[in-house]
Amino acid sequence: MKNMKIMKLIPLLLLFSATLTLGQQKKIAIGPYVQNMSYGSVTLSWSTLEGSVKVVSPDGQTMSLPKYEQHEIRLTRLQPNTTYQYDVLGDGSDEGKGSFTTFPKGIEPFKFVVLGDTRSRHDVHQKIVNKIIDEKQLFVVNTGDLVGNGDDILDWRHFFRINHELMKSTPYFSVLGNHEKDSKNYYNFFDLPGDERYYSFTVGDALFIVLDGEGRQYTTPPFIKKENRDIFWNNQNVDYFIKEKEWLENTLNLYNDAGYIFVFMHKPLFSIKKSRVEGAKMRREFWGDIFERHNVQFFINGHDHHYHHAFNGGTHYVTTAGGGAPLYDTDALQPEPVKFAKVEHYVAIKVGPEEATLTAIDIDGNVIEKIKAPRRK
Ligand SMILES: [Fe+2]
Repeated sequence: MKNMKIMKLIPLLLLFSATLTLGQQKKIAIGPYVQNMSYGSVTLSWSTLEGSVKVVSPDGQTMSLPKYEQHEIRLTRLQPNTTYQYDVLGDGSDEGKGSFTTFPKGIEPFKFVVLGDTRSRHDVHQKIVNKIIDEKQLFVVNTGDLVGNGDDILDWRHFFRINHELMKSTPYFSVLGNHEKDSKNYYNFFDLPGDERYYSFTVGDALFIVLDGEGRQYTTPPFIKKENRDIFWNNQNVDYFIKEKEWLENTLNLYNDAGYIFVFMHKPLFSIKKSRVEGAKMRREFWGDIFERHNVQFFINGHDHHYHHAFNGGTHYVTTAGGGAPLYDTDALQPEPVKFAKVEHYVAIKVGPEEATLTAIDIDGNVIEKIKAPRRK
């Protein structure tokens, strides 16, 4: 679709395309990459290497960590559905170059891709990313646990190396997972709408809501007894989650005219992993019937490392967490599951005039399942 549109726009591109030179002398270590896209604006980000930090342990082992400086620029007053070329170094060399296509302003078909739990097995992550590049989607969503340890700068270096080709031209929206650890690195590298923890954005009349199911990460003081640790942590976040739920209800009310609503959160509301069934039930109790009541078509999450589809009250609950982390068996089949597959995968979603179609695709290109959901009335 995007290609066809670009061809139609060729005469316009002659007018609107611009090579944006943003003047930056230092060489790039991470990026450039495209974020926080709308129909008229976008953020370009990249990091330069400022030096390295050495740490020596008592046994003489030396650790060397890269010290990056993050750069970003917000571009505004762009034309909708238009492809721009950019060069963040402004020197004509390939390393600063990329392109992006702004979102359409009106209602028209588009495709986006979702993957999750890309934190380990970098070869698998790379293979999935290479397949996604071929999808030529408008944007990508990662359902969280992008990296193994959000505090570890080396994990982020891996992540951005693997995603370099994809992210230099495709907006990447992320969801906070438990492995991000609420780390400063996450907020430094990503520019996301709102306060970046939970946020929304739109494409045409499709609404996308990203929730934070993790909350603020406090270090529980070591003197708190083991049996009180969960209570201690939960109490720290009660106000935070109540506020988030109010924001969600308000957002869903404001966007009641949306043709499609997609909600993303890291942890599932329906789990088929025994050790996680109870947690999923607790989350379901907390969020209640809010997704069904507002006719949300898709709630998409990660965390359980497999593909899983449950259907409840008109809402499809899809777990996509096959982006690299070790796969999980299912050991607790609940009444709800429609489909389950223990395989590395991603999902591609086509949003059309009458319906949205989610296709789950495994690492070898086989279709696991197709789900169709009609436009909201
Ligand atoms: Fe997780």
